[in-house]
Amino acid sequence: MLLPMQTTFTESKPGAEWWRSAVIYQIYPRSFADGNGDGIGDIPGITSRLDSLAELGIDAIWCSPLTKSPQKDAGYDVSDYRDIEPLFGTLQDFDELVAKAGERGIRIIMDLVPNHSSEEHGWFKEALAAKPGSAARNRYMFRDGKGENGELAPNNWESVFGGPAWTRITEADGTLGQWYLHIFDKSQPDFNWENPEVMEEFDSVLRFWLDRGAAGFRIDVAHGLVKEEGLPDVVLNDSTMGGQQGPDDKPKDRVSPHPFWGREGVHEINRRWRKVLDEYEDRAMCAEAWVMPLSRMATWVRPDEYHQTFNFAFLDTPWDKQKLQAVIDESIEEFSNVGAPPTWVLSNHDVIRHATRLSYDQVPKQGDGIGPDYEQPDEAKGLRRGRAASALMLGLPGGAYVYQGEELGLPEHTTLEGSVRQDPTYFRTNGERVGRDGCRVPIPWTASEPAFGFSKTGETWLPQPESFKNYARAAQEGVVGSTLELYKSLLQVRKQYALGNGSLQWRNDLVPAGAFAFQNGPVLVVVNFTNEPFALPAGELLVTTQLGLAAEGHLEADQVAWIRA
Ligand code: NOJ
Repeated sequence: MLLPMQTTFTESKPGAEWWRSAVIYQIYPRSFADGNGDGIGDIPGITSRLDSLAELGIDAIWCSPLTKSPQKDAGYDVSDYRDIEPLFGTLQDFDELVAKAGERGIRIIMDLVPNHSSEEHGWFKEALAAKPGSAARNRYMFRDGKGENGELAPNNWESVFGGPAWTRITEADGTLGQWYLHIFDKSQPDFNWENPEVMEEFDSVLRFWLDRGAAGFRIDVAHGLVKEEGLPDVVLNDSTMGGQQGPDDKPKDRVSPHPFWGREGVHEINRRWRKVLDEYEDRAMCAEAWVMPLSRMATWVRPDEYHQTFNFAFLDTPWDKQKLQAVIDESIEEFSNVGAPPTWVLSNHDVIRHATRLSYDQVPKQGDGIGPDYEQPDEAKGLRRGRAASALMLGLPGGAYVYQGEELGLPEHTTLEGSVRQDPTYFRTNGERVGRDGCRVPIPWTASEPAFGFSKTGETWLPQPESFKNYARAAQEGVVGSTLELYKSLLQVRKQYALGNGSLQWRNDLVPAGAFAFQNGPVLVVVNFTNEPFALPAGELLVTTQLGLAAEGHLEADQVAWIRA
């Protein structure tokens, strides 16, 4: 018998450390639900759909940035850290979201962007109007150029989105002047994290949202804040998002220590923020830190630093038994060495959706995306593997992240035309890297309504592919074997047996070579990576990705079963 779903914070008594086992659902606000019909999702849209998320059985929602922003990088360019972007609503809408989510036992996690602001932030405008060497300039990374007339960038750093990481300004008197650093788009100037004023400002921003009831933060580019003194050149060309796997699945060439990724000095900032969070009950922060190997990433979650960090090593692993088993072992070991829970994630707004990604043996580099000219995915294979990967992930001990739409089995939009693309990566590389828009398309709610129920006017800021109607939530609701019902069952059983707080023991002795099985509490998770079906070990079948599978039946290729042995 399954237990009824929880509707209150029963596990959240102070000290309960809810984040250790939580399933956190990522909302990309532009694309979740549009309340006012302008084609861009918003907070009232989110609030109106909370019941669907409560039914899904998640513990918390992380919203990608809701703060005021000219939206040059979809909100990751903040112009006011203490206000809500009008496209998304108001502070009152935010308060209502926190309250209504709370009534359903769901916490709201904010996205904080401390590495850079928008060029429209008041501080940056002040810096442009001020003189070189002034206090206003010192909040950012302004430097004189090299060359006779300062016409060359201060160093060779490249933007993650392509092109140089420096832009030269015109001074207030009309002459060509200093350069400022932007590790991302030129509309996103990097802060100077050596400046105490910047540190104090962010302490205060954290408190602002914690006071308003935010359960914590996902911290953007948590590994990039501190730059090496003197800003030396990058020796090897490694200034992309942070040393993830290349398409050949080998770590890219990297410099160690890199002049701006994963510097030691960041840990001091981590500790400072942890103290702020510890002033409040039950809050947590998760680092977006693309640092490898996992032993290094684990240093971000030592007891006085972050609570969690995204496990990008897991996300980067292809559908391969050996590699997955190895990364699971390594994650559990490295995180437990520092007393932190492992976290698991397969998709987010920066990567190709896993229901598409896993259909490929060779996946484009993170951030590059898939365009119409790329080899198109095998949709059925991707969906099969995507569902299997989710069922594998949700059986693991620790915290898990679910990206909006993955509970529908939603694929990447792989044929978006250049004319509708919005990711700065596309423009900064002249279309060479198509970027991340394909995973950010507004999600489908109903098959027959305009914009598949995303927006009542039918407007959508990115076009949805026709195929999205097959994935609409309403069409999956209550349908045996649908991806939505699969996720609901997985989350319910996960909660019922407290798998998030459990532990893992390999039981490959129970399955043929080429498959794997692990025990977490009373649940045996069996995954078939081979092309051959095999008989399931004996026991009660709790959940499965395979339509029509019976207890002790045959588990087919790329299918998963959870059994109570
Ligand atoms: C990481 C975010 O996830 C991504 O979407 C954004 O473009 C960069 N950081 C810059 O803020």
